[in-house]
Amino acid sequence: MKIIGTGSAMPSLAVTNEMLSEILDTSDEWITTRTGIKQRRILSEDTLTALAVSASQRALESAGLIAQDLDYIVCSNVVNNFVTPSLSCILQGEIGAGCPSIDLNAACTGFIYALDIAESFIKTGRAENILVICAEQPSRMVNWKERNTCVLFGDGAAAVIVSKGDAFKGFHITTQSKIEPLYYQRKLEFNPYVSQADGDAPLIMNGKDVFKLAVSSSVSDIRNVLEKSKTTADDIKYFLLHQANIRIIESVRDFTKQPDEKFPHNIEKYGNTSSASIPILLDELHKANKLEKGDLLVFSAFGAGFTTGACVLEWTI
Ligand code: COA
Repeated sequence: MKIIGTGSAMPSLAVTNEMLSEILDTSDEWITTRTGIKQRRILSEDTLTALAVSASQRALESAGLIAQDLDYIVCSNVVNNFVTPSLSCILQGEIGAGCPSIDLNAACTGFIYALDIAESFIKTGRAENILVICAEQPSRMVNWKERNTCVLFGDGAAAVIVSKGDAFKGFHITTQSKIEPLYYQRKLEFNPYVSQADGDAPLIMNGKDVFKLAVSSSVSDIRNVLEKSKTTADDIKYFLLHQANIRIIESVRDFTKQPDEKFPHNIEKYGNTSSASIPILLDELHKANKLEKGDLLVFSAFGAGFTTGACVLEWTI
């Protein structure tokens, strides 16, 4: 499998730390030093479907394909307005594709999980061109009065088109069933006298536990895929890590003993956009001509579950 196109789309509303300080007991100083985030984009007038459509169309254009060329759509998404049908079904119609589509929820690790599934379809010859799209709106899961969580997240969408090739050198994905550190629970109580549940509970997170799990799992996943692909950290041009906290990125960087410039980030602009964070960063690097044919890249992510994943690939565009 290889990546042949990228695209992304972000909501127009930027919410700065200063704006949050007006509604919460927080400050730009606290958020910046603890997380690296300066602002995030939040869906207000735009919809998640519209973002997903734009990101997919841009990826198709970048790949030189049209929607009818797609054989499959894999969409990583945690929440959207519909429980069913899936976001990928809605997207399939909006972009004019004719292929099957599925959603998957591996939380912030969704991009790596989606790529892993796409690779299986391509390897077995069941598909030639696949749209992998990550579309997320964590802003709808957090309680905006809860400063521990709401300052961390932002909305966004990004896509890649993958096709036949041998650019992916090694994958490693894991699940450890650990709910407590990070979860969002839907209210599904049975009550024959009430017509519908009266809202979900907000996202619950134990930040310190997530932080420790994030660093240890990212370090071990990266080691694993470097070994699998018979490469060393020195061979890697860029490590694209899940954009959750700049301090997590720096801790992983220290373990790899690699220079800072190998760990590009945009968390300062977008916060944690869940599974969309790595493909948004990838699209930015691609559009800024920072990737050259033959560059080796590592993707590494972690998320609720606890899910983790990493892969090594060669840039071939
Ligand atoms: N503004 C100001 N103060 C805040 C705050 C905010 N937005 N959020 C928390 N605080 C306070 C806490 O209440 C605490 O106060 P106390 O000492 O009086 O109790 C203090 O700041 C320190 O909180 P603490 O939780 O120790 O901070 P931390 O250094 O662990 O950083 C996180 C908190 C959430 C930024 C950090 O743990 C983290 O990023 N964890 C990983 C989260 C993550 O990646 N989630 C997504 C996974 S996909």
